[in-house]
Amino acid sequence: MYEIGKEEIDEVSKVIIDRNFFRYKLNGLSECEVFENAVAEKLNVKYALLVTSGTNAIVCALAGLGIGPGDEVIIPSYTFVATSLAVTIVGAIPIMANVDCELGISISEIESCITVHTKAIIPVHMDGLASDMDSIMKLAGERDLFVIEDTAQAFGGSYNGKRLGTIGDAGCFSFNCDKILTAGEGGLVVTNDRALYEKMFCMMDGSGPFNPCNKDIFTETMPFFGMSMRVSNITAAILNVQLKRLDRILDTLSERKDIIVAELSMITDISIVAGSDRSGDCSTKLHIRFSDPSIAAAVGAKLRASKILAYPPTMQPAHVCWKWTKMLGDNFKPYHPKVNPFCVNDNDYNYPMAKYMNSIDIIMSCLKYDIDYDLSLQETLVLAKRMKEIIQA
Ligand SMILES: Cc1ncc(COP(=O)(O)O)c(C=O)c1O
Repeated sequence: MYEIGKEEIDEVSKVIIDRNFFRYKLNGLSECEVFENAVAEKLNVKYALLVTSGTNAIVCALAGLGIGPGDEVIIPSYTFVATSLAVTIVGAIPIMANVDCELGISISEIESCITVHTKAIIPVHMDGLASDMDSIMKLAGERDLFVIEDTAQAFGGSYNGKRLGTIGDAGCFSFNCDKILTAGEGGLVVTNDRALYEKMFCMMDGSGPFNPCNKDIFTETMPFFGMSMRVSNITAAILNVQLKRLDRILDTLSERKDIIVAELSMITDISIVAGSDRSGDCSTKLHIRFSDPSIAAAVGAKLRASKILAYPPTMQPAHVCWKWTKMLGDNFKPYHPKVNPFCVNDNDYNYPMAKYMNSIDIIMSCLKYDIDYDLSLQETLVLAKRMKEIIQA
């Protein structure tokens, strides 16, 4: 959590004093609707829908695009486990593709994972780093696949001047407590596609089309499966303040990351992971790339001994697919093999560790450091110089 304080407390108090919790309002706009309008304008996208979590945002997008049992969805090997769980929630099968040196899903690996059952690609802008969206969109266009951007960790980031999350068919965000903007929990899905928006709205609230407050959204009662992913105005009141803090949060982070990157760029045998558009990086994390995993491990130990918390990304097991593939196999059981007609052998969808050796090598050759928002610029420079000394020693 980067910034939260009195303004959020005041806005939440108003919601409670007015007893105004429900996301719909007959006259005027609810806190949820104010947020949806403001965020759509900020990201320059037509439709924005608040939901209860980032996972549910992905579920809405997948279900809205008609993805379900028997379909395969390609996701990166380096992502939070929720990306894959969202795919299994709609009954589809996540297929993990290795990442490239910039820690985004590799285009050649996506190509090698495509089968006749593939329906979508979910690039993940992991750690605030932009994925290679031009190549992904081109490949998706050629192979007739949907693209759902998992932007849970990259709110406000951009790729070639476009906000992350607004380039694919849908973009999904999380507002859980360690995200760039937070209300403790919450999610958002955005799209420019009206029909998809209406379906995702139904997913968010199965009774939404019947509510007179939504008569401007639905021209007719939409027959589409729906759940209950409505968010209360308390969450939205916090997010309305958080959104106003976004530019300052991103500027503060990038100023600090730039200082460290400038200092470390003087070291010859390391490089800094930049994603596919360094200028659009959210700068929440710094990734130092070494020539091999053993060097990364040794330098990481020295940095941590000096109280600089640089760690291999594999230290977060929920972020690397080889730590959670067994759980996925178990999740498929309800769909396997009866519901998923394509899955005929027990081993059809196992995930051999050997498939991820490239990712393991790339990821373990990096050390990740969380940019410290609370350090002054001077303190950040001191830290950067100390990091440089330790890495060079
Ligand atoms: C990359 C990624 N995808 C999806 C999610 C899921 O978001 P939530 O925790 O809000 O369900 C997260 C949350 O940490 C995430 O980091």
